[in-house]
Amino acid sequence: MSFVWDKNWEIGISSIDAQHRELMDIINKLGDAMRERKAAEVVSPVLKELSNYTKKHFTFEEALMRRYGYEELESHKPYHKKFIDKLAEFQEKIDTGNIAIGVQMYNFLGDWLRGHIRGIDTKYAEVLKDKGAK
Ligand SMILES: [Fe+2]
Ligand SMILES: [Fe+2]
Repeated sequence: MSFVWDKNWEIGISSIDAQHRELMDIINKLGDAMRERKAAEVVSPVLKELSNYTKKHFTFEEALMRRYGYEELESHKPYHKKFIDKLAEFQEKIDTGNIAIGVQMYNFLGDWLRGHIRGIDTKYAEVLKDKGAK
């Protein structure tokens, strides 16, 4: 089952929504690769793509929080760091041929997507929107 983007995923800041949607697309691509039992050689570049895009997204998000003087920026950052570390861990496993990790990885990414967007990002979005972000 793939993730389908709809209004419920939106946090109401258009640049962030577009990036979250892109993250969802890449995670779906990984899900497809797992379901089709693709080899590590196929999964590896998609995971790399996710990691690169995620880093860009986090940098953008943190800069936006800084621009609006978001007070909880410092406590938001460790969530980002933790996820980047986790992706690196998955990458290492996939790249050493441990494709069996794929399903567990996909489940983790799905949970993360929900938690990230609907959990912690919703919190900063409310504050930034009050300050005029859109
Ligand atoms: Fe985000
Ligand atoms: Fe975030």
